Amino acid sequence: MVTAQSHAGKGSFDLHDVSVTYGSETAIAGVSMHIEPNAVTALIGPSGCGKSTLLRCLNRMNDELGNATVGGRILLDGVDVYDKEYDPVELRTKVGQVFQKPNPFPMTIYDNVAYGPRTQGIRKRSDLDALVERSLTRAALWGEVKKDLKKHAFELSGGQQQRVCIARALATEPEVLLMDEPASSLDPISTQQIEDTIAELKEYVTIVIVTHNMQQAARISDKTAFMLRESMEHPAFLVEVGETRTMFTNPGDKRTEAYITGRFG
Ligand SMILES: Nc1ncnc2c1ncn2[C@@H]1O[C@H](COP(=O)(O)OP(=O)(O)O)[C@@H](O)[C@H]1O
Ligand SMILES: [Mg+2]
Repeated sequence: MVTAQSHAGKGSFDLHDVSVTYGSETAIAGVSMHIEPNAVTALIGPSGCGKSTLLRCLNRMNDELGNATVGGRILLDGVDVYDKEYDPVELRTKVGQVFQKPNPFPMTIYDNVAYGPRTQGIRKRSDLDALVERSLTRAALWGEVKKDLKKHAFELSGGQQQRVCIARALATEPEVLLMDEPASSLDPISTQQIEDTIAELKEYVTIVIVTHNMQQAARISDKTAFMLRESMEHPAFLVEVGETRTMFTNPGDKRTEAYITGRFG
C-alpha cells in the first residue's frame, strides 16, 4: 500500500549568492534568499528579469540548456543540490514543475498521472489507482474526470490539461512544486481554478510560482520576491523579498513600490 507521505516542514530552499550566466551574459547575480516550506512564494518582476532563470536553478533545469552556468549555493533542506554527488534526477522527484503551456503527454488522463509513479517502479494497480485519485483530487480535477480516466488528455480543455499536469507533478509526491506562469495561457475561469488549487496545495508542498500578474501574486502568495534588471549591461538582481502583504502595502524599496504601482514594467 502506498500511503500519502507527509512533507510537512520539508521543501525549504536557501539560496546564497546565486548567479546564472548564459554563455558570456550574466542574467542574474547575487541572489540570496530563503524559501519557506509549505508556503507559496511568488517571483515577480518585468519581463526578462530572470524569473524563469532563477526558478530553473531550483531543480537544475538550467543544466539541460547546455549554455548555462550556475554560481553560488542552493540548499534544499540544508543539502547542496549542486554538489557533484547530488543526482539531478533525484532532485527532480523532490522538486516537480509545471510549465506555462499545459503539456500533457499524448496518452490518457490516467497514464499521464501514473507516469511518474510507474517510472519509480510502482506497478500494483491498486497502488497506482490510489495515487491517481489522490493526485487528481489535490489538483482539483478528480470530480470532473473520475468517470473518464481513459480519455486522452488532449481532449480536455486547456485548464483541465493544466490541472492534469499539476496532478502528474504531484503524483511522485514532490516536496516542492515550481510553476512558471502556469495560468498565463488560460481563460479567467481556468485561471481562478488554478489559483484555488494552489492555495490548497501548500498543505502538501512548497510552491514557488513565477507570475507577471501582480494581482495574482497578491492573491495567492505568502511571500513575494521582486527581481529587476536595470540595464542590459548589468545582471538582474533580487530587489527584496518579504511577506506578500507588506510587499504590496509597504514595500521597503522605492523600486518595488514603483513596480507594483505600475510605474514601469
Ligand atoms: N536559454 C537561454 N539562453 C540564453 N539566454 C537566456 C536563456 N534563457 C533566458 N535567457 C536570458 O536571460 C535573461 C532572463 O530571462 P528569463 O529568465 O527568461 O526572464 P523572465 O522569466 O523574468 O522573463 C534574458 O536576458 C534572457 O534573454
Ligand atoms: Mg519567464
